Amino acid sequence: WDVSVLIDGTTPEVQARLEAEQGLAEAGGVLAAGGTVAFPTETVYGLGADARNTAAVEAVFAAKGRPSDNPLIVHIADLSQLEGLVTEVNGTARRLMDAFWPGPLTLVLPAAPGAVSPRVTAGLDTVAVRMPAHDIALRLIAAAGCPVAAPSANRSGRPSPTLASHVGDDLAGRIDGIVDGGPTGVGLESTVVVAGDDGIVTVLRPGGITAEQLARHAADVRLDAALQSAAEAGGRDEDMPAPRSPGMKYTHYAPRGALRVVTGAAPERVAAAIQAELDAAKARGEVTGVLAFDEHLPLYRADCVLSLGSLTALETAAHRLYAALRRFDDDGVTFILAESCPREGLGAAVMNRLLKAAGGKVIKV
Ligand code: TXA
Ligand code: MG
Repeated sequence: WDVSVLIDGTTPEVQARLEAEQGLAEAGGVLAAGGTVAFPTETVYGLGADARNTAAVEAVFAAKGRPSDNPLIVHIADLSQLEGLVTEVNGTARRLMDAFWPGPLTLVLPAAPGAVSPRVTAGLDTVAVRMPAHDIALRLIAAAGCPVAAPSANRSGRPSPTLASHVGDDLAGRIDGIVDGGPTGVGLESTVVVAGDDGIVTVLRPGGITAEQLARHAADVRLDAALQSAAEAGGRDEDMPAPRSPGMKYTHYAPRGALRVVTGAAPERVAAAIQAELDAAKARGEVTGVLAFDEHLPLYRADCVLSLGSLTALETAAHRLYAALRRFDDDGVTFILAESCPREGLGAAVMNRLLKAAGGKVIKV
């Protein structure tokens, strides 16, 4: 057999599939050999490494510039991979897996000692696990033949990547490969939860699966105390209880320009206040940007006006948010104001990320 002859003789579709298959096999081989490979998931691009291989996991932390006390999510392609990873899956966790896997839900479970590198769990006795709903991710993990530890594939503190080019912008020259699967779907990271055997589900990080969705499969859904108080205080994290999801305590997703989130009950007054601030910023020489919902877009004049879609379809806001934050950087915007949305459904995750990106800085109108 001459494989190249076989490939040349096929239709373009089959040839593309064969080439993709070869690419995934190669990328899986890089992971199996201890390398780092970025890949698409349904949420954001992840930077993968063999979760059992401490040197490989350390290369992920180094590439990202990530603090070592922030543990990684372990990605699996098949439920059978859970067996070696965790000591127990209670009934609540099982129900959530049945309902939402593969999908944007991460479960924090009791770790089987020694199953993954201690650098993955950052010394905790729990391990965060998820099965991504993305064909390329699932096939890559299967090809690697190991549990794949993967944080979002951005430099620490930057917006998470929703395109392969974002990964390249942040990590080119620092990692061993990127699998380009086009734009990600959800656009925000997975929801991280702890499932109690009493049926109570605690959300440590809001994300692609909403509290309302979780509630259909839980006795009760609660927000981690740190998230709760940050929300009530308008997003400020200072003096709040330490979050149980260590990553939530860092400033994240921040654009280079100064970003503030504007809240208020009356949309016209909010828009007027935003425009007044933009005009003042422009007058002192700032390059101005505004992140707004379609309903109010015509009300704004700024150097860079970006849309989060309609307030009636917050999945668009989730899908666009990180690319928008990066776009402000590309355009050299120095002063950015963002509208807010109700913290219902995906709005909870959108507001969580926006407030993180703003470092908790809120203007109340
Ligand atoms: O959608 C996602 O979850 C993406 C894609 C690539 O899968 N991954 C992602 O990973 O967002 P990362 O590293 O950016 O965020 C992981 C979050 C952090 O907030 C971390 O603190 C938390 O999960 N986490 C990991 N292990 C944990 C554990 N054992 N207990 C509590 N929180 C944990
Ligand atoms: Mg991240």
